[in-house]
Amino acid sequence: MEIRCRPMRVSDYGVVESEHWTSADQVAEYAEHQGIASMLAFAGQRCVGQLYLQEYDPAFIEPGGWIGHRPWANFQVAEPLGLHGRYLTLGCYHVGWRPDNSKDESLWGQGIGTALLEAVIEWYRGQAAIDGLMSWALVTGCKGLLQWAGQMPYTVYQRHDFREIKRVTDPRLAEDITDIDPEGAKEDLALLRVMLLSAGRPAR
Ligand SMILES: CC(C)(COP(=O)(O)OP(=O)(O)OC[C@H]1O[C@@H](n2cnc3c(N)ncnc32)[C@H](O)[C@@H]1OP(=O)(O)O)[C@@H](O)C(=O)NCCC(=O)NCCS
Repeated sequence: MEIRCRPMRVSDYGVVESEHWTSADQVAEYAEHQGIASMLAFAGQRCVGQLYLQEYDPAFIEPGGWIGHRPWANFQVAEPLGLHGRYLTLGCYHVGWRPDNSKDESLWGQGIGTALLEAVIEWYRGQAAIDGLMSWALVTGCKGLLQWAGQMPYTVYQRHDFREIKRVTDPRLAEDITDIDPEGAKEDLALLRVMLLSAGRPAR
């Protein structure tokens, strides 16, 4: 499958899945402030994935925990991270989501998530105002948990030159998850890694 990626436009709101957007105005606001609202992946005319992005704010708290709207942008449990400058946080990955928020699981595992990540990295390399990309990453990458959380395992980030800057015990996943095999996910439920890419430009 040939995948092409491009940043989300305001006119995409509601046309592609827009679960984590409250309005077209919010898309416009993020695009203006961050330089990009989210990255979209297309197979032909069909949108097959979205990678949500939010500027890192050490004070940001997602009230809903991991079942809230933007849990991946909440780094409270890992602070202080000692980062200075502007960073974009990566997640959720919504591969295979349709505009009605139903999911086409046949699209999982076909490289769409990786294509979205690579498109964001390419975009970032052209942005002088952004100092890096950061993300939570699962310790082992249990597939059930990846699917539940819409996240990538740390190995994918490692392959794309991210480095681990902290590993933390995070109680949120264990608290929120009730419907996946706890044995397979044991390590990931207790630990998360914080991955950072600031290639060519050391963290300030
Ligand atoms: C988890 C997810 C981001 C992975 O993206 P993907 O396009 O399916 O994966 P890719 O083919 O790019 O592979 C990347 C990694 O994902 C993992 N992966 C592969 N197939 C997978 C599958 N069927 N399900 C979950 N993860 C898978 C692998 O660890 C792979 O790493 P590897 O290349 O080292 O083996 C994607 O499946 C997804 O978004 N699923 C839906 C998640 C969701 O909706 N969650 C609700 C959140 S609110």
